[in-house]
Amino acid sequence: MYVVRPAAAATAAFLGLTLTVLGGGSVSAAPIPGPTAPAAGTRGADVLVPVVYAHRGASAYAPENTLEAVDRAMWLGFDWVENDVQRTKDGELVVIHDDTLSRTTDVEQVFPDRRPWRVADFTAAEIARLDAGAWFGDGEYAGAHVPTLREYMAQVRGNRQKLLLEIKKPELYPGIEEQTLRLLEELGWLDERHVADRLVVQSFSADSVKIVHRLRPDVVTAFLGTPPVADLPRYAEFTDRINPWHTTISADWVAAVHGLRGAHGKAMEVDTWIVDDAATARKVQAMGVDGIITNAPDVVRGAVNGL
Ligand code: G3P
Ligand code: CA
Repeated sequence: MYVVRPAAAATAAFLGLTLTVLGGGSVSAAPIPGPTAPAAGTRGADVLVPVVYAHRGASAYAPENTLEAVDRAMWLGFDWVENDVQRTKDGELVVIHDDTLSRTTDVEQVFPDRRPWRVADFTAAEIARLDAGAWFGDGEYAGAHVPTLREYMAQVRGNRQKLLLEIKKPELYPGIEEQTLRLLEELGWLDERHVADRLVVQSFSADSVKIVHRLRPDVVTAFLGTPPVADLPRYAEFTDRINPWHTTISADWVAAVHGLRGAHGKAMEVDTWIVDDAATARKVQAMGVDGIITNAPDVVRGAVNGL
């Protein structure tokens, strides 16, 4: 069912754009349930203040995907952190973005003969030996390590934070969706409270998102990408959010996403990435996005609150 959100309509009007109501479906101008998770505020003339997500933790200020980046986000006052989950040779889930260890660790020094240094070719014990912080800044984070997902979840829980979990390159790790959900369940992250507003699972792979939705229909999911408007209804069958690169979107496209009810029957949402400067943050805010995923959450928070 297609829906029209007052805020989206107002934003489109503000931008001098036409809100396109997709053909074929019925249209409702009545208020519909708000964001699935988390709730966002409003400001001024119904302009949404997007939720800010610390991408790979507060990764402008601490080495990405480390526990230190999670803590940095907390100290800056951010609930939501984003991460990337992959799997080691011996089957441990770990938090790292690239499918090789070279860029963010000292693997080439520690294991010089193990080219091309793929995550999937190293055991968890080997990865635990690596320094994942020395490369960053002036070395103040030397000694940081690549966390297992289990460690990472403990940190997020201890900080009372929330997680936007990305299943990274799932085609390299058959069964990673089920394994991830099993761990989340074991750690208490799939209870009603967490599923309601503390966890979102996303992927660039539509198949992976579909698997997560099939295995745990209660979990809020997001597809990373910018499907054409005509294809959006197919995504709405298995996901709640469409999370696009900010350069690929327009107010009309955002309104088209908002005009659909997602897998949980609520208006679909848009969390866009990676926005690290104030001008771009204000631009995507004016397009009506629900969330902004950023390495510099403090910069974006200031911008979207008009500071
Ligand atoms: O959360 C969105 C973003 O993480 C997607 O891109 O490459 O940084 O994982 P990437
Ligand atoms: Ca990511």
